[in-house]
Amino acid sequence: MHTLTDRFNRRIEYVRLSVTDRCDLRCSYCMPRGFKDFSEPEEWLTFAEIERVIAAFARLGVRRVRLTGGEPLVRRNLPELARQLASLPGIEDLSLSTNATRLSKHATTLRAAGVSRINVSLDTLRPERFKTITGGKLDKVIEGLLAAKAAGFGPIKINMVVMRGVNDDEVEDMVQFCIDHDFTLRFIETMPMGETGREASSQYLDLQTVKARLSQRFELIPGVMPGGGPARYVQVAGTDLRIGFITPISQHFCETCNRVRLSAEGTLYLCLGQEDKLELRPLLRGGIDDAGLEQALRDAVDLKPEKHEFRERPGKVVRFMSMTGG
Ligand code: GTP
Ligand code: 5AD
Ligand code: SF4
Repeated sequence: MHTLTDRFNRRIEYVRLSVTDRCDLRCSYCMPRGFKDFSEPEEWLTFAEIERVIAAFARLGVRRVRLTGGEPLVRRNLPELARQLASLPGIEDLSLSTNATRLSKHATTLRAAGVSRINVSLDTLRPERFKTITGGKLDKVIEGLLAAKAAGFGPIKINMVVMRGVNDDEVEDMVQFCIDHDFTLRFIETMPMGETGREASSQYLDLQTVKARLSQRFELIPGVMPGGGPARYVQVAGTDLRIGFITPISQHFCETCNRVRLSAEGTLYLCLGQEDKLELRPLLRGGIDDAGLEQALRDAVDLKPEKHEFRERPGKVVRFMSMTGG
């Protein structure tokens, strides 16, 4: 069987696919300000082009694909793309990271299309605060979450970027919310992606502090759910709740990285925290054959850097988080 292995002996088996860099929210740490264009430019890979790239990755051993954005559900006909990708030979796991504002409308269709797991960004449970952080309406998100649960999605994960002085007083409330609704909870450290991410770094909070605070109130049992993702999990004793800590800054996880990222415009980024990349669109539109495409993907994986440098060089990554969806 084919595999994609990088210079540091990491096996690449996961592609994060950004289908748009647009979003209907404006989270303070993610999007460029004043970005309101919802047209779908000709530079974006078509569904057929995306399918071709993912099929090539699958032939090289990629098993998992995550749809991200921006907000993936603002891309027209996303369930159709999901259906195409889920039925590709070799793809075993198709997941979605969303802000959930449009999920109540699409949850059932997405599930029928073959999306198996959903992660939802939710930084606060207070409507006013939600408006301040994202510019949007909290009740749409809650509606979307409940629709996803009703549609039968497995453990839904809540992603909370914990920011000092912004929402760090809600960590315990979020734990209770996730216990009540049977969601998995993940806390995330702010990363200095693009200008907005760098500005948000002044709100950075080390999650080791949060964990210590939580363990005064809850008994946290370490070591559950090892696995492919960046989160390190604990179980909250006496409940079904699992909490994942995603700590790129205080304790990075680069040595176990298994992923690459494809942007809407067809740029393959080899690392979230670096600018190393391969432009796939000119190859696809220049008539490259399947063997050539596979070789290009192998060559690109050889460029994957060892680790990010968010601490050493926080200004290094100029692209916004919204371009690769985390
Ligand atoms: P699961 O497959 O459910 O574990 O998903 P995930 O945690 O990989 O994906 P999700 O889109 O929910 O991302 C959660 C957070 O992890 C986001 O803030 C991402 O930016 C961050 N993240 C995901 N992959 C990486 C990575 O390779 N490096 C870094 N530094 N952060 C990552
Ligand atoms: N730092 C950390 N996480 C971020 N996300 C978006 N921008 C940042 C950032 N600068 C998170 C979102 C979403 C996930 C895919 O990435 O909250 O849940
Ligand atoms: Fe991998 Fe880069 Fe993420 Fe580190 S920052 S885990 S090297 S993608």
